[in-house]
Amino acid sequence: MWLSLLLSLVVAWWLPLAAPEPASPSGATGGQLRRLWLQDHCHAGICTNVQIGRSDYVILSQAPIPNQLMLTFINSSIAKIPHLLFDTFPDLQMLRMENCSLETFEKPQFEGASNLMSLFLGLNRLKDIPKNIFLGADNLATLHLHGNQLKHLSNHSLHALKELKELSLADNIIEQLPLGLFGGMRKLMDLNLAGNRLAALPRGIFDKNLNVTRINLARNRFTAFESELLKLQPRLSLLDISGNIIQELTLNFSLLELAVAHSCDLRRLTVYGIVRELDLHNNSLRELPHIPQAVNVTSLDLSQNPLGNLQGNPLRRFTALLRLNLSTTNAHELPEGLLKKQTSLQMLDISGNSMYSLKITLFDSLKALQYFYFQQNNWNCDFLQLLMSSFVKRKDLSFMEDITAPELVDDYVDGIACWYESDKTSKKCDASSSDAALELSVVRNEIKAFTEVVEKKFIKVYRMLEEMKMKL
Ligand SMILES: *[C@@H]1O[C@H](CO)[C@@H](O)[C@H](O)[C@H]1NC(C)=O
Ligand SMILES: *[C@@H]1O[C@H](CO)[C@@H](O)[C@H](O)[C@H]1NC(C)=O
Ligand SMILES: *[C@@H]1O[C@H](CO)[C@@H](O)[C@H](O)[C@H]1NC(C)=O
Ligand SMILES: *[C@@H]1O[C@H](CO)[C@@H](O)[C@H](O)[C@H]1NC(C)=O
Ligand SMILES: *[C@@H]1O[C@H](CO)[C@@H](O)[C@H](O)[C@H]1NC(C)=O
Ligand SMILES: *[C@@H]1O[C@H](CO)[C@@H](O)[C@H](O)[C@H]1NC(C)=O
Ligand SMILES: *[C@@H]1O[C@H](CO)[C@@H](O)[C@H](O)[C@H]1NC(C)=O
Ligand SMILES: *[C@@H]1O[C@H](CO)[C@@H](O)[C@H](O)[C@H]1NC(C)=O
Repeated sequence: MWLSLLLSLVVAWWLPLAAPEPASPSGATGGQLRRLWLQDHCHAGICTNVQIGRSDYVILSQAPIPNQLMLTFINSSIAKIPHLLFDTFPDLQMLRMENCSLETFEKPQFEGASNLMSLFLGLNRLKDIPKNIFLGADNLATLHLHGNQLKHLSNHSLHALKELKELSLADNIIEQLPLGLFGGMRKLMDLNLAGNRLAALPRGIFDKNLNVTRINLARNRFTAFESELLKLQPRLSLLDISGNIIQELTLNFSLLELAVAHSCDLRRLTVYGIVRELDLHNNSLRELPHIPQAVNVTSLDLSQNPLGNLQGNPLRRFTALLRLNLSTTNAHELPEGLLKKQTSLQMLDISGNSMYSLKITLFDSLKALQYFYFQQNNWNCDFLQLLMSSFVKRKDLSFMEDITAPELVDDYVDGIACWYESDKTSKKCDASSSDAALELSVVRNEIKAFTEVVEKKFIKVYRMLEEMKMKL
């Protein structure tokens, strides 16, 4: 209050002079005191080309501007949030100042910001959050600080944010969290800590945050499942731990809507409790995850795992699956009864494998299928014709065409690459046919790799010949 009074005096003194060049030094900082009428930069809540240097001291308006609920800054460079922003816009509920080169907070920064509910400060250059800086913003519900350079936080960095529901500290360089950081946030529901350098969580860090339903710990340095997460049991519905190297994982939550654990080098996974969607792509799984309540899983992404040929009937308890991704799993074949229980399945992806031919009855039970991706395999042209006519076309399924280079392909069926059997003997004997197919696909891949190398060499040789020709 004193400050604004002082400033109105300053403004009153300033205006009659009407100095066109804003050059008055402001106290000890040696910065500039200048007028920056935000009204001139902002239209319908969007402010563009606002430039505020680190030592500038700006006056935003002659009088408070009421009823302005949102402000978004675009194409602006604002080293610090102007002191008087919340005096000038007392009704402000949402402030978006993303990607504005924001460097620092000033005290008191959020005095008078009691109407502020959403604050977006992502993609800036903030290095730290001073203690108690959010005093005054006591109704803030959403705070985004992702993509800054935050490293150390203290117990009091986020003090006063007792109404906070959503917090993102993603993509900073945080190595440790202080135990008391979230202590005052009893209503916290959504916490994003992805893309930091966390290897452990202090014991008890979530003791006061039992309302958390979504937590993202992806791309950190965890090497084992963090048992502190189990404290979030009652409410947690979304968990993302992707990109941490955790080879053995056991989850036990009462009801996870979505568990994301891709790119973890996972070798073994057990899930107790209910999980509906499970994204496990790009891991090292050689067998399906063990999920006693498999009956409640609706989406399973196992792509880019070295599963190989599935044995037995590992999907028999996944009876409610809607989406199944087995793309790039080193499979040459699928067991005949594999999909028997998948009567609800809507999407099946078996692309990027080495499949040659399958039992067509495999698909009989897929009554609900709409999307079927099977490109980038080693399909036999005769089988592919059959698959197209008796299943894909007949059920009008969506599929995806191949991108394999034509010189490596014998033929295409509706845009999917296929090869004719070159070895007639393998046709006769059914038992050896899959072995032969396997051999064929191995040889084909070798040839593919070989021709690529040879092609490169040929290009070189041609170029040399051309050069020699030129010289002659
Ligand atoms: C951030 O702002 C700069 C300059 O205003 C712009 O070039 C860049 O594309 C923006 N980046 C994002 C992620 O918005
Ligand atoms: C922001 O800057 C970019 C690139 O200079 C320009 O294309 C865009 O129109 C600007 N946006 C506004 C709202 O001024
Ligand atoms: C931070 O807060 C926690 C719990 O609220 C407390 O145990 C701890 O001593 C505090 N740490 C510091 C450095 O004040
Ligand atoms: C969850 O949030 C509600 C307010 O939305 C609050 O009253 C309650 O205490 C919180 N629960 C816990 C366990 O913190
Ligand atoms: C999973 O958690 C529940 C509730 O905390 C517990 O009763 C159960 O024993 C746990 N299951 C396993 C297999 O650890
Ligand atoms: C796959 O996961 C590994 C870790 O096992 C990671 O290093 C790699 O970057 C991931 N690849 C992709 C394409 O995400
Ligand atoms: C899990 O599946 C079973 C069997 O379909 C069903 O009875 C139960 O209600 C499901 N549980 C949840 C939480 O969806
Ligand atoms: C299946 O997984 C692969 C590899 O992870 C991915 O590229 C593809 O888009 C997924 N398929 C579908 C239909 O989502």
